[in-house]
Amino acid sequence: MSAQEIINQATTGHTRTFQQAPTVRAWAPGRIEVLGNHTDYNEGTVLSAAIDLGHCVALSPSPKPGIRLQALDVDAVADFDLTTGGPVDGPGWANYVKGVCYLLQQECNTAIDGLDITFFGSIPMGSGLSSSAALEVSTATAVLAWLERTLDPLLIAQLCRRAEHEFAGANCGLLDQFSSLFGQAHCLIHSDFRSLEVQPVELPHDITFLVINPRVPHRLADSPYNERRARCEQAAQELAQWLPDPVRALRDVTPAAFAAQRAKIDPAAAQRAAHVIGEIDRVDRAMTHIRAGDMEAFGQCLFDSHASSADNFENSTPELDAVVEAARHAGALGARLSGGGFGGSAIAMVRQASAAAVTEALLARLQPAGLTPDVLAVTPSSGATVLPVD
Ligand code: GLA
Repeated sequence: MSAQEIINQATTGHTRTFQQAPTVRAWAPGRIEVLGNHTDYNEGTVLSAAIDLGHCVALSPSPKPGIRLQALDVDAVADFDLTTGGPVDGPGWANYVKGVCYLLQQECNTAIDGLDITFFGSIPMGSGLSSSAALEVSTATAVLAWLERTLDPLLIAQLCRRAEHEFAGANCGLLDQFSSLFGQAHCLIHSDFRSLEVQPVELPHDITFLVINPRVPHRLADSPYNERRARCEQAAQELAQWLPDPVRALRDVTPAAFAAQRAKIDPAAAQRAAHVIGEIDRVDRAMTHIRAGDMEAFGQCLFDSHASSADNFENSTPELDAVVEAARHAGALGARLSGGGFGGSAIAMVRQASAAAVTEALLARLQPAGLTPDVLAVTPSSGATVLPVD
């Protein structure tokens, strides 16, 4: 479904349920993580893109107190108010919206009450394309527009991440929210999660991405994501004892320093750190390849990243491994799992002219293994925006 169709349906669905047309509407995209896996919370760097799938939030004021939230995808309504923090006594999806509203109320020092909200999206939940960040960011964008307030986008990203930590229980980094807010049409973005700087990275015009979803759903909060994060932080602390310069995060450890010291730290933590340190280095090398227009070398970084996910970070699945292998044989320039892992989707980077042939070949290769993934071509797109109302 196109973004416009999503927006139209959110609008009519809102009017039907709440008997009032929305007075504010906002759109926020999902993302693909192209390279730099689990580096964001280690203060590293990532190449990602906002995509042309996302969420629309439509809202209108109501004379009734509290907030009524309609999830059009699942045809359900949840009620909550913002007098207390903490997760809702209701469906999990309501937490992202409640979290954002609750924190915006504090940040803007104003009561948020008496609102009907509808959301609708084109990102399947659990597909690894950051449906939760798209929901958080579209909520924040719409509610701020309703309040007639603006906040620094960096602050919005941090606030949405807090909603994820405090209301949904996933200790994620800032990648998903950055991608959804700062995405640029036809570009990747390079985010540095130490300096918090974001730069657009232009790709040759004939490069496009496929999202391949074997439909093994995942939820970050239920996955070993938080455990992996804790291991990375443990590795940084242990390495700090052996390295001459201060180590605040794995970003401070070069591949050479790591190779020299890894035997001295906990082997399980070292295995996770090997992935993150390798990924940060790969993002640097990928930037050199992109600048040189060498898409084959950049693609190889994606394959290498996936191998490191499978071997070192153990956040792949047999289905994702099969998809990446099939993409390689089908002629993709590169492929890897995208996002947190433990399920979700893989991406493949392909030349536009060969996208259909690669899709066909990869599906043919996976069929004997009983895998029939959804394959979708996605376009790097711009970030969240307030939409005009009719
Ligand atoms: C999820 C998290 C992000 C990031 C990726 C892995 O998408 O939400 O913050 O850690 O996993 O790179």
